[in-house]
Amino acid sequence: MNIQAYPKVELHHHLDCSLSYKVVHAIDPTVTEEIYHRDFTGPVKCTNLVDFLGRTFRGIALMQTPEHLRMVVDDVMGQLKRDNVLYAELRFAPLLHTQQGMSPEEVVEVVNEALTNAISTTGVEARLILCTLRHFDADESMHTVRLVEQFQGTNVVGLDIAGDEAGYPLDEHIAAFEYAADQGIFRTAHAGEARGAESVWETLEYLQPTRIGHGARSIEDPALIEKLREEQIHLELCPASNLQTNMYDTYIDHPINRLYQHGVSMSVNTDNRTITPVTLKQEYEHLHQHFQWGKEHFLQCNLHALRSSFLPEETRNTLV
Ligand code: ADE
Ligand code: ZN
Repeated sequence: MNIQAYPKVELHHHLDCSLSYKVVHAIDPTVTEEIYHRDFTGPVKCTNLVDFLGRTFRGIALMQTPEHLRMVVDDVMGQLKRDNVLYAELRFAPLLHTQQGMSPEEVVEVVNEALTNAISTTGVEARLILCTLRHFDADESMHTVRLVEQFQGTNVVGLDIAGDEAGYPLDEHIAAFEYAADQGIFRTAHAGEARGAESVWETLEYLQPTRIGHGARSIEDPALIEKLREEQIHLELCPASNLQTNMYDTYIDHPINRLYQHGVSMSVNTDNRTITPVTLKQEYEHLHQHFQWGKEHFLQCNLHALRSSFLPEETRNTLV
C-alpha cells in the first residue's frame, strides 16, 4: 500500500501550531534548526497537556502581521499537499494574533483570503474553524463566535474550544456555544484529552458539539461509547499528540483501535505538526505497524471525516 499517495482528510489541525522550520526561519532568521527543535518542537514526552501547550507560544508570536499570516497559510497548505490531503479543516484562535495591532476581524480576513489563494494554487480543499480557549472569558468567547457568524459564507465554517481542559471549566463558554447553536454554526470541542469520560459528557451536555477534538478517553465509559455511536458524534483522534501529552505510554496503549472496533465515527489527525513532528502519512504508518490497519480502515475514517465535516452536503459529495 502506498500510504503517501493515499488520499487523506484531516479535520483536526492547528494552523498556529504547524509551522515548518522553513517558514519559521523565513520569518525569524535568528531561529536555527537547533533552536527550532529545542523550542518549537516538543520533547518526545511532555509532562502533561499544560507543558505541551507551553510550546504553542513561539509559533503564535511569529503570526502577528498580515504578511506572516499569509506565509504560514502557504506553508501549511504546502505540507498538506505533500501529505496528499484532499480536504482539511484548519483551526486557530483569532484573538491570539493581535500583539502587533491587527484586530481579530483583520486577522480572520487575512487568513481567509490567504487560504482562498492557497486552495487554488495547491488544489487542496480547506476550511477554517475559529477557536475560543478554555482560559478566555465569556466576552472573548462571544467575540470569537461573532467572528464565525460575521465570516459565514467564506472559508470559515465552525467554532472550537481548545486549551487547558483540566485547568478551566466550561462555564464561561456555554453562552457562546448556545449562541452558535442558535445561529446554526457548526461546533466541535476539545475534551477527553486531559480529563476523562466525565469531561466528554459535560462538553456534550453544555456545548452540544457534533464532534469532539480527541475524546480518546471516552473509551473509559461504555455508556458514553454507546451515546457516541448512536448519535454519530465524531471523534477527531490524534494518537501521536496524545502520546506526547503523556496520556498514554506507548502507541499500542492508545484506544484508537478499540474505538474503531466499537464502530465510533472517527478520523485520524495530526493536531500540531510543529510540536508533534508527525505527518498524516507517518500517522497512518504507525496505525499499519501497530494495529495492522489497512486501506479499509483508512477509507472508513476518511468517509467518517467527510460525513462529519463542516462542509455543506453538496460540496462534501464532490470530494467522495
Ligand atoms: N491547542 C493546541 N493543541 C491542543 C491540544 N492538543 N489540546 C488542547 N488545545 C490545544
Ligand atoms: Zn487540538
